Amino acid sequence: MYPNLLSISHPPVAAAPARTIAITGATGKLGRLLLPRLLQLGHHVRAISRRPVFEQTDSLDRLSWFTADLASPQTLHRPLQGVDAVFLLSPIGETMDQLQIGLIEAAAALRVPRIVKLSGSHWTMTPPSRTLAGALHHRIESRLAGHPGEVAIIRPNAWTQALLSGLAGPLEHGDEITSPYGNAAVAFTDIEDIADMAAHLLAVQALPARQPIVMSGPSAMDFTDIAAHLSERLGRCIRYRPLTNAEYAHQLQSSQPTPFLRHVKRQFAELIARGEAAPVTDATPRLLGQPARPPQHYLNRLAALV
Ligand SMILES: NC(=O)c1ccc[n+]([C@@H]2O[C@H](COP(=O)([O-])OP(=O)(O)OC[C@H]3O[C@@H](n4cnc5c(N)ncnc54)[C@H](OP(=O)(O)O)[C@@H]3O)[C@@H](O)[C@H]2O)c1
Repeated sequence: MYPNLLSISHPPVAAAPARTIAITGATGKLGRLLLPRLLQLGHHVRAISRRPVFEQTDSLDRLSWFTADLASPQTLHRPLQGVDAVFLLSPIGETMDQLQIGLIEAAAALRVPRIVKLSGSHWTMTPPSRTLAGALHHRIESRLAGHPGEVAIIRPNAWTQALLSGLAGPLEHGDEITSPYGNAAVAFTDIEDIADMAAHLLAVQALPARQPIVMSGPSAMDFTDIAAHLSERLGRCIRYRPLTNAEYAHQLQSSQPTPFLRHVKRQFAELIARGEAAPVTDATPRLLGQPARPPQHYLNRLAALV
């Protein structure tokens, strides 16, 4: 179920003294990329999952898995005791704020010196009540403002892999791709850049100022651009068709398990279609000293697989 974590290649991020770092969401999409980065940088990692996990890596002496649940903050004491930093991530859900605030309180009680939180996209939470998910992330950020230790908050723009992985099926079976985002451009953020940023912030000697770090890709592209790029890579003509509201509602019905998540996704799609996810920021080159990965990087890999 879990890939050989150390086999994932990535560019190095700035060297820092070895630290002990706890990560929540270690088995998820981002956590699985963050974990090997921290190990390769020489840190000791405490990976948290609700399930007992047995990993086979060649650095077992620096990787420990802990079974803990954000819903039961007392289970977090063992993995958080004595760490230098904790990475805070949990999936969007109606109680995401309570779950994450439980960890923040446990970390404060244990005097954890640094918390790095993976937050929502900037445009989902400006103003704070703009979207259901953004309001939850904002409540967690507000609680972090009172944390006695250091805090860093990452607000990544729409993730390349989350928004574009659904293109694989349609490309395998035909020449048409669709999206609920109309003709809007999106400054997709590659999840590998987010993992690089998290690894950097968890271990860097001095954190940047406390403002949220708003990440994006290097430029914005719309789905017509994406179809053109895929046409070139695949050597066949790929057409783009925006979904109607009714088609998207039907898609959400089968892909999202709860009315809450369907509402969250609809709000995101409406804002992205209005161009809210188009702004480009310089956080990746400025803080990591490396260019942000363009979505073509992922699209090329996707095209090679279909
Ligand atoms: N997709 C985007 O475009 C985008 C943009 C901005 C921000 N985000 C943010 O990204 C986050 C989701 O990240 P992701 O996609 O990497 O998540 P994911 O793949 O859905 O993984 C979720 C992780 O959370 C863990 N988890 C779930 N409930 C838990 C609990 N009660 N206690 C402890 N661990 C728990 C799971 O671990 P186990 O199952 O092993 O316990 C799993 O490792 C959300 O907060 C979202 O707002 C996403």
